[in-house]
Amino acid sequence: MIRELSNPVITTLVSSLRDTKTDALRFRHIVKEITKVLLYEALQNASLLSKEVQTWRGKEQYEVLDESSFVVVTVLRAAMPMSESVMETLPQIRGGFLGIKRDEVSHESKLYYDRLPECEGKTVIVVDVMLATGGSLCDAIEVVKTKNPKEILCLNIIGAPEGIEKVQKSHPDVNIFIAQTDQRLNENKFIIPGLGDAGDREYNTPVDQD
Ligand code: PRP
Repeated sequence: MIRELSNPVITTLVSSLRDTKTDALRFRHIVKEITKVLLYEALQNASLLSKEVQTWRGKEQYEVLDESSFVVVTVLRAAMPMSESVMETLPQIRGGFLGIKRDEVSHESKLYYDRLPECEGKTVIVVDVMLATGGSLCDAIEVVKTKNPKEILCLNIIGAPEGIEKVQKSHPDVNIFIAQTDQRLNENKFIIPGLGDAGDREYNTPVDQD
């Protein structure tokens, strides 16, 4: 299943990401804002448990998410503001990291770092800004699946139809929540119109400084 956000505020924020005048601080801030909305959408039907809360009237029962049943997995490096945003909202959930880099020439993704917590029986939320060919997200999902999660949810800011189709075909059991779907990939496998390289935009690293 794929769910694309349709909201004028989100459209405005994504348009700001496309603007080259948007500096790194503002870019990361917008990514975090959009991630919060994606998280709300993704957890819309999540079950709640009853928790005793010490209120001004005494101890009472209120509903809360069981944060221990979630893991957020960051696909380094562009997704770092996304996982930060998720953990600002749900501070008790566990965080994992996957280093995946797309080769600049072959466009093949390669896993170079794997630091996941226990995922057995958990809802794993994989975050990545861009879904281009889908190679990085498929790699991430495959690694997470080896840890026997209950389910996998993906949060993405923008994607190309080709990459979305690849992920959906390879992993029909995974739900994708995305802010906007762009037109296509170009011959260099960049998303058109896209945002440029999200990691470079966030961390002030033009391509020639990699
Ligand atoms: C970018 C982006 C995704 C990936 C998407 O990362 O952040 O992880 O490419 O491309 P794909 O769908 O074709 O695999 P990149 O490899 O540039 O690494 P970075 O985040 O460290 O810049």
